[in-house]
Amino acid sequence: MKRILVTGATGQIGSELVPALRKKYGGDNVIAAGHRKTPQKDFIEEGLYTTLDVTEIESLEKAFQEYRFDTIFHLSSLLSAVAEENPQAAWKVNMGGLYNVLELSRKYGCAVFSPSSIGAFGPNTPRNNTPQDTIQRPSTIYGVCKVSGELLCDYYFTHYGVDTRGVRYPGLISYKTLPGGGTTDYAVDIFFRAIQEKSYTCFLQKGTYLDMMYMPDAVRAAIELMEADPSQLKHRNAFNITAMSFAPEELTAQIQKYIPGFLMSYQVDPVRQSIADSWPRHMDDSAARDEWSWKPQYSLEDMTKDMIDRLSKKMGGTL
Ligand code: SER
Repeated sequence: MKRILVTGATGQIGSELVPALRKKYGGDNVIAAGHRKTPQKDFIEEGLYTTLDVTEIESLEKAFQEYRFDTIFHLSSLLSAVAEENPQAAWKVNMGGLYNVLELSRKYGCAVFSPSSIGAFGPNTPRNNTPQDTIQRPSTIYGVCKVSGELLCDYYFTHYGVDTRGVRYPGLISYKTLPGGGTTDYAVDIFFRAIQEKSYTCFLQKGTYLDMMYMPDAVRAAIELMEADPSQLKHRNAFNITAMSFAPEELTAQIQKYIPGFLMSYQVDPVRQSIADSWPRHMDDSAARDEWSWKPQYSLEDMTKDMIDRLSKKMGGTL
């Protein structure tokens, strides 16, 4: 990896992956690409930024020709709940965008990181210790795109030699940029509300266990996988990775250690609850640990402490 394009750069993962890549590979070697015409200030100040729509192959090809990168982190995507509201748009962005990225990577010789998700599993997948290789029959359009994307990425590797790699991310928790319309978003929203209002109404019910990860681990995973020795990779698209598994009431208890008066109530959203009920509670990520030495650094306790510290500073020290 010498020169890198990040699509979806202004999103939840991109806004933290771009600075991490720039620190490592230099600002001029990391091109942030998003659909916004005016992104965050630091994106323009600290490196190159280009506006592009991944569903338009011509605009994407122009970026390939202009910037001459060798690796793409392709992050543009609609999340699960928002995708369910508009399945046609989800297919267009999530599959259409990926197809364009793969086709151009084949033509211009680029490596591709494409994130998959716990959403690539479905109601008949084993939910505890979900194996790396198991049943994948998701019931959401988001999941249909993720499974299709995994297969398409593997196909481009086996048939065209495109160096495609990916991870199945769990719910990602971060303070810099909010996720947009996912099922695991409660685990991010809860921190903002806990600090601002000392109360939160959760849209998933008590006892809903899901895999989760703090953003620094998620960013490191993407970079480490793309730097991994290809001869050690038996899998490619995509590796199970996880850092913690918890239910809403367990996260509440952790937050109450720092904000004792924090109150949690529940108003279940049936759409997101049924999505969550079809996803793993805890994935087995031993293939990632064995093949490229994946290891998370943040537990539920570490993540909660760091989120509260950083978010309360960001929000003006209201604790
Ligand atoms: N966090 C995503 C979502 O909830 C899953 O990958 O949609």
